[in-house]
Amino acid sequence: MVYLNGEFTPKNKAFVGVMDRGFLFGDGVYEVIPVYAGKIFRLSAHLARLQNSLDAIQINNPHSKAQWLEILQKLLTFSPAPNQSLYLQITRGADVSRKHSFNALSATVFAESNPLIPKTKTELENGFSAITQVDIRWQRCDIKSTSLLANVLYSQQAKQQKVEEVILHRDQLITEGATSNVFMIKDNVLFTHPTGAHILPGITRDLVLESAKFCKLKIQESALTLAKLLAADEVWISSSTREVMPITKVDGQLINNGKIGQHWSEVYDYYQSLKYA
Ligand code: PDD
Repeated sequence: MVYLNGEFTPKNKAFVGVMDRGFLFGDGVYEVIPVYAGKIFRLSAHLARLQNSLDAIQINNPHSKAQWLEILQKLLTFSPAPNQSLYLQITRGADVSRKHSFNALSATVFAESNPLIPKTKTELENGFSAITQVDIRWQRCDIKSTSLLANVLYSQQAKQQKVEEVILHRDQLITEGATSNVFMIKDNVLFTHPTGAHILPGITRDLVLESAKFCKLKIQESALTLAKLLAADEVWISSSTREVMPITKVDGQLINNGKIGQHWSEVYDYYQSLKYA
């Protein structure tokens, strides 16, 4: 079952019209929210980011926080899975003709939920590979927009090259991953790109920083160069569906001789404790 414009409908019976601006222009925003043991994780932070995305593209939020909670909690009841990944998308809606500029429309609201099976620590301890690419995306990567063509192409490249992620850089400075935020440890300091127009302010990014603080790591929110990343002691990526993952190979080059870092292990453990707190 999925949620579409006020109704809960079987997925194969849920349809959106061809004039929907989400279909024609990718004119919409979305959120991905993890659910652990039936509890929606960091809902307020996700809804705050959703509000920022909506404000940035001039769509009125169709629901209050209480209404979102009701919709999302109802969606969760259709699956017995304790851990789920909620997806919600709002597009500007459908007009009578295709025009780039827009009129006030009734937004299209879609939400679904899928089982979430995060990798175990043992699985993560194998380490993962990434490749790097020039970041060709626009200058508003802080908006969680459904216009994701660049990210789609990067992710396809990752799939074809059998790596976990494509790490992006702009003017030689690491921004984020195609579908994640990126962290680096060097000499016991954690570096990550500051929030702003060039990255999505990941909710997991905040959780990783919270965990790192607990683990007494020094944190520096500043962009790091590609050369520094390749010489890092540890590289991690983070997202709502992948949590915090160690990257041990970048562009075929081993990070820290391919060994999983101690800092990742500690931050991972604290992150796990937050999920069920
Ligand atoms: N993507 N940066 C980008 C470009 C992303 O697409 C994502 C997440 C993140 C991490 O954000 P968060 O920690 O809030 O999940 C950073 C989601 C999972 C997706 O598109 O499916």
